[in-house]
Amino acid sequence: MPIPFVEPFRIKMVEPIRRTTREERERILARAGLNLFKIPAEDVLIDLLTDSGTGAMSDRQWSALLRGDESYAGARSFYALQEAVRDVLGFPYFVPTHQGRGAESVLFAALVRPGQAVPNNRHFDTTQANVLALGGHPVDLVVPEAGDPAADLPFKGDMDLAALEAFIGRVGPERIPVGLTTITNNSAAGQPVSLANIRATAEVYHRHGIPFFIDACRFAENAWFIKQREPGCAAKSVREIVAEVFACADGCILSAKKDAIVNIGGLVAMRSEALYQRVSQQLILHEGFITYGGLAGRDLEAIAEGLREGIDEEYLRYRVAHTRHLGQALVAAGVPIYEPTGGHAVYIDAGRLLPHIPPAQFPGVALAAMLYLEGGVRTVEIGSLMFAHDDPAGGETHHPPLELVRLAIPRRVYTRSHLDYVAEVAGQVARHVEALRGVRITQAPALLRHFLADFEWV
Ligand code: F0G
Repeated sequence: MPIPFVEPFRIKMVEPIRRTTREERERILARAGLNLFKIPAEDVLIDLLTDSGTGAMSDRQWSALLRGDESYAGARSFYALQEAVRDVLGFPYFVPTHQGRGAESVLFAALVRPGQAVPNNRHFDTTQANVLALGGHPVDLVVPEAGDPAADLPFKGDMDLAALEAFIGRVGPERIPVGLTTITNNSAAGQPVSLANIRATAEVYHRHGIPFFIDACRFAENAWFIKQREPGCAAKSVREIVAEVFACADGCILSAKKDAIVNIGGLVAMRSEALYQRVSQQLILHEGFITYGGLAGRDLEAIAEGLREGIDEEYLRYRVAHTRHLGQALVAAGVPIYEPTGGHAVYIDAGRLLPHIPPAQFPGVALAAMLYLEGGVRTVEIGSLMFAHDDPAGGETHHPPLELVRLAIPRRVYTRSHLDYVAEVAGQVARHVEALRGVRITQAPALLRHFLADFEWV
């Protein structure tokens, strides 16, 4: 029998979590307009809403906080982070930001003009919204296999290189101020992107004179998948793979709330000094001075430590096995999932589980509400609520290819028995889906509606 994976840490401090009754949850959910973003965290038993900023910091990170230098300009903590950025990511210039979307906003404000296009394998919601807010067009060009939840392929997050080439040819490189790729591909079920694909993407962008940036939130998990799955990479260390990945790019935007395992923070890193100057202007306007960027000195210290811990191979081995365990437990409980599982989350295939609920009635939202009602588990819809959009020409609404519910796993927080409980709850829901109805929106803002919308059962 294979030796099961173990957590490469032990627990030093605990935070109680609270069970509620089904009657309580019914009231709580109704008060929240069926929107799990609006539920107080105290009323959630297992919170799989996001892996972002929800990780447990290590004893080393907590002690690093005490080293924080809170000087406005030139804090020692800035230089500590600068050293980690150069050491791990390999970029000479960087600015800290309050989180990932701050990085998107200052980079895009320096580059993107109305009418321009920004290609990506697939944009995350805030990345897409930041391009749109500047009058730009975010364009998703992931490989078609990403849309197949059953295809057992190693790198379903890859950029479709032929589609990218065709898109640049059609639009013209002068209308593309920056090209992206997102690792891992969060909006495509957390699927990894291969080193070969990152290299080839860089080659296409660079041949057309387009700067190439990586949306690098989950760069360490992506590197682990490259080491495990990509021919010729098994003998390389994760650190070497990370260096090779970033060597392809002109820079990156990074939410440190994921693989740098901190509760808040982000950064933009780059090679060009001229771009650094332009981004710095935006940073001072919107985030803060160039050596703190909207963070406290102590946050910079925790990120510096977390960047190194995030690429630890024993940690990554556990991390990916832990996530896979949830996927296997769900399948055993009769719940259809997107396969293979990604690094940070398991995605339930709500479209397949609830074929009787049409995309316009948000099967993922209905399923997420039921997971909460059944067992106090909080998840998030990644489907039509998040990504459907109206045709600007007045035609039919475009729906994303899959209706998914994401179970994102905070780093170093939940044990395997927490995950087994979640699978149990999902199994219960899956056994009684015929009676489940869809939902309709009662109110919603135009941009990023999933955070603030209210619903009622159809
Ligand atoms: N890019 C990707 C791929 C992301 O997954 C996120 C955040 C961001 C950018 C923005 O970073 O939250 O620090 O501003 N994703 C979180 C999630 C919110 O739940 O997947 P941020």
